[in-house]
Order: sequence, then structure tokens, then C-alpha cells
Amino acid sequence: MKSMVILISGRGSNMQALLEAGLPVAAVISNNPDAAGLTFAQARGIPTHTINHRAFPDRNTFDSALANIIDSYQPHLIALAGFMRILSEAFVKRYHGKLINIHPSLLPAFPGLNTHVQALQEGVKIHGCTVHFVTPQLDYGPIIIQAAVPVLANDTTTTLAARVLAQEHRIYPQAVSWFLQGKLTLIENRVVIETACDDQKVLYSPEITL
Ligand code: GRF
Repeated sequence: MKSMVILISGRGSNMQALLEAGLPVAAVISNNPDAAGLTFAQARGIPTHTINHRAFPDRNTFDSALANIIDSYQPHLIALAGFMRILSEAFVKRYHGKLINIHPSLLPAFPGLNTHVQALQEGVKIHGCTVHFVTPQLDYGPIIIQAAVPVLANDTTTTLAARVLAQEHRIYPQAVSWFLQGKLTLIENRVVIETACDDQKVLYSPEITL
């Protein structure tokens, strides 16, 4: 049986979507002791760990301690779900090909924070979210699946974020499920999904009615 570990820092709604999809989650780890997501995971009987980055002198020491907890579960996959720490190059390389992230934009547009503010400022008509393999470059790396949503004239960051988040909760379980079924192959910077018909599923896009 394949297993995964989820890393969170806060609300944990993506973690919740993964748990509710029935995916084999061995543990949830948070760098933030107050992460609301921990309570949800505990209520579902999932082992949780808190490792506060503030207790460590530097990024590498924190990352090593984090890796020790992860390795104790020997997971096939590590899924970042709102994990708000930049990971060292050594950490990312250690888990090459088995570390994925969800980001609330259509990468490579709008890496970093405040993606919905950026989208509104730039006036894009289509925004969305991306699940991708993690590489040392922040919010970059081979894309597994994306979902697009329209940006509406009267959108605020709140309404836009909610529209994107609903899609995050659809595509993250799908990406994890493909990974754990061994359907994803990394070829340089591209992710190939095993069955040709799955190509139709890597983009969710709502119909635009005029
Ligand atoms: C999500 O928008 C995710 O894409 C981003 O951080 C947010 C975390 O939300 N990386 P949640 O903790 O999963 O509710």
C-alpha cells in the first residue's frame, strides 16, 4: 500500500480535501503549532506532528529535522498543502520526484504570495491553480494538472480566492491519485500521464457564456 505525508502551516482545507478523497495519508506535519488543519487531522485519527521552525537556528537544521520525521513514515509521496516555508535545495533534491505542491495561480504566472492580488492587478481574464512537482526554484517545476477559472468584473480577492480554492480541492486529490497509481512520469520538465485519455483531465475550465 502506497502512502503519503502532508505538510501544512494553516487552515488545511487542501489537506482536508485529500483526506476526504480517501487517500492513504500516513501523517500530517505542521511547522505551525496553531495550524487549524491539525485539529481536523487528529479528529480523523491521522498521526500529526508539530515542528516549529522558530526553535531551529537555521533553515538547514529545520529541514533535516523535518526530513527525519518524514522518513520515519517512509512515504511514497510528500504533498505540500499550504506549507509556508521555503525548503532548502538539499531538502528538495532529497525528495526529487516525490515532492509536490499546490499553488493558487496558473504557473508560471504569479509565483510567490498574494497571487489573487497579482491577478486582479494584472487584469488577467483567466486565473486558477496548479499542482506541480517541487524543484529548488520557488513555485516552479513540472506541472501535473491545472484548473482555470474566469476573473469576473466585480471580483475581489476574496471572491476570486474562493473560486480558485474550490478548484484546488478538485485537482489536488486527482494529482495525488495519479501519482500513487504510478501514472505520472517525469520527462525533463514535463509530466506525462499514463493513459492518453487522461490528457483531457489535466485542465478544468468552466464554460464561458456570453
Ligand atoms: C492554498 O491556496 C494553496 O494553494 C496555497 O496555500 C493555500 C493553503 O490553503 N499553497 P489551505 O491551508 O489548504 O486551506
